[in-house]
Amino acid sequence: MSDTTIESILQEHRLFSPPADLAAQAEIQGMAAYEQLYEQAKADPEGFWAELAAQELHWFQSWNQVLDWQPPFAKWFVNGKLNITYNCLDRHLTTWRRNKAALIWEGEPGDSRTLTYAQLYREVCQMANVLKQLGVQKGDRVGIYMPMIPEAAIAMLACARIGAPHTVVFGGFSAEALKDRLEDAQAKLVITADGGFRKDKVVPLKAAVDQALANNSVPSVQHVLVVQRTREEILMEPGRDRWWHELQAGASADCPAEPMDSEDLLFILYTSGTTGKPKGVVHTTGGYNLYTHMTLKWAFDLKDTDVYWCTADVGWITGHSYIVYGPLSNGATTVMYEGVPRPSNLGCFWDVIEKYGVTIFYTAPTAIRAFIKMGDELPKARNLSSLRILGTVGEPINPEAWMWYHQVIGGERCPIVDTWWQTETGGFMITPLAGATPTKPGSATRPFPGILADVVDIEGNPVPDNTGGYLVVRYPWPSMMRTVYGDDDRFRRTYWEYIPPKDGQYLYFAGDGVRRDADGYFWIMGRVDDVINVSGHRLGTMEIESALVSHPAVAEAAVVGRKDPVRGEEVFAFVTLERSYSPTDALKAELKQHVVQEIGAIARPSEIQFADALPKTRSGKIIRRFLRNLASGEDLVGDASTMEDQSVLDQLRQGS
Ligand code: PRX
Repeated sequence: MSDTTIESILQEHRLFSPPADLAAQAEIQGMAAYEQLYEQAKADPEGFWAELAAQELHWFQSWNQVLDWQPPFAKWFVNGKLNITYNCLDRHLTTWRRNKAALIWEGEPGDSRTLTYAQLYREVCQMANVLKQLGVQKGDRVGIYMPMIPEAAIAMLACARIGAPHTVVFGGFSAEALKDRLEDAQAKLVITADGGFRKDKVVPLKAAVDQALANNSVPSVQHVLVVQRTREEILMEPGRDRWWHELQAGASADCPAEPMDSEDLLFILYTSGTTGKPKGVVHTTGGYNLYTHMTLKWAFDLKDTDVYWCTADVGWITGHSYIVYGPLSNGATTVMYEGVPRPSNLGCFWDVIEKYGVTIFYTAPTAIRAFIKMGDELPKARNLSSLRILGTVGEPINPEAWMWYHQVIGGERCPIVDTWWQTETGGFMITPLAGATPTKPGSATRPFPGILADVVDIEGNPVPDNTGGYLVVRYPWPSMMRTVYGDDDRFRRTYWEYIPPKDGQYLYFAGDGVRRDADGYFWIMGRVDDVINVSGHRLGTMEIESALVSHPAVAEAAVVGRKDPVRGEEVFAFVTLERSYSPTDALKAELKQHVVQEIGAIARPSEIQFADALPKTRSGKIIRRFLRNLASGEDLVGDASTMEDQSVLDQLRQGS
């Protein structure tokens, strides 16, 4: 965020009440109802969640304890048995929803497909049987590396149906990044496609899988299941690689849902942190199912008549929770779109809304800011009158973008649901409830019932209103991450001991800075750690630095976020070279490409600055604060006297 944005947020006093007609028909109507729910949940969280779990989900067997909390390890609905796909599919088949559209897919070169609940059920069952046939058993991990096609959702559900945890890797990640994730998860099988369509180009996904698995580098992987999408020539390794459509054709559609323990692993999703390699965030079954179901239902006031569209990719948590599991558990119609706005089709989002009569539209601030730049004509030329609720996620939304979204897209009649949450939280944590919460542009408003969010200092002491602090959560919630896959200690250190526990009270540290105003509204200020947010994508600066240093020319690298008016932040890298290399533009280009190869295009540095040395403390720690200032062309903030060599800054200021 730019400083002018922070400034404007501090001065933001506008308040927008939910429209009367929407509020009158909402399940949670008005702030009094919200307050009452919030107080009820706070007074008796376990009773609150247990009542909803019994009412909203199907269980094969009920739990005998709602919460087992041995900080920082939580178990929800202990000994309860369920299967999330039963809640997402089977239970709708005995109702009128059987032939309701479950998934509407709009594909890139004009393809489209609609799957009813009955059809989706059938395909999921068939695929579940295919997985079994390929030797996948309950507990085995399955990697999914797919474009945004229905088979991605089908693959996830098929895994969940037989109790094989999935780990979806965003299709924009490189072969190298894919390999790391498959290795860490010890995946037994990978589901991919021959390729995907992205921005008028073909992304060779299968080739990337081949590269990731070359020389048997991930020996746990026994099979690769390949969806035919682009029909490009690809290599199929005999014995290892199988075509999805061929196996599906012979597969039975009868596959009863495996009864899973509430705490059985549902999926692992890798996300970036301050240190080390991306960590595998572990989510389990019961609590995740309940929480994604409830948050979508109440925050977006989801109705059976809604056509709900979340523009995220299934490779991110937003796609998991709010394209696949949350909407289907509610029996909603969820739209999935393969495309992204690009010069050849700038109005594509508005076309999708018009074509399907989308009523709820959920996207990221970076997209909204890009649309503002494209002008009002594009949305104004389409009929967007079906919209009734808008949502945003992924990064702070500046009030200017919020107002544009409200006026130009929402026609001033749609509440904006600004949802603050994370891969780790599984579902929305701080969010308006569309029919209840008056919104303020730039604020994610109030915590969801059951979420004891707070603002504290580094020692865990609460700070007064309107004072910045760390965003923490004081009590477990059903969809909280259970651990870092294979690394309980990292889980404890990163999230629960960053702010030292006091008197047995553990605080979940989110990594975000925040301010709470006198009305109890939260204003997220962005990450306080070495994580940067580029177009709503979360990147660890250290990951990018490691990628750069793995190039033979690079001696040392320091990566910071530079503010960008559209993308929020962009990647700025300072690099010192090994003696035998010269600082040329060609080398800059090569290093950028190297990062793309190591991580993926989302991590490509926008700028690389060569330096003879990096600013360091006397103990040898890089002073990133100064680098952030330098990257953004600002005055240096802070004391330079602790620096080992002051002339380094002058050299950096001159640039190269
Ligand atoms: O910094 C916050 C920002 O995104 C981070 C979480 O990233 P990720 O795990 O990739 O999940 C993104 C989608 C849930 C947070 O720590 N963030 C997310 N939503 C918001 C946000 N910042 C401000 N406002 C939001 N609504």
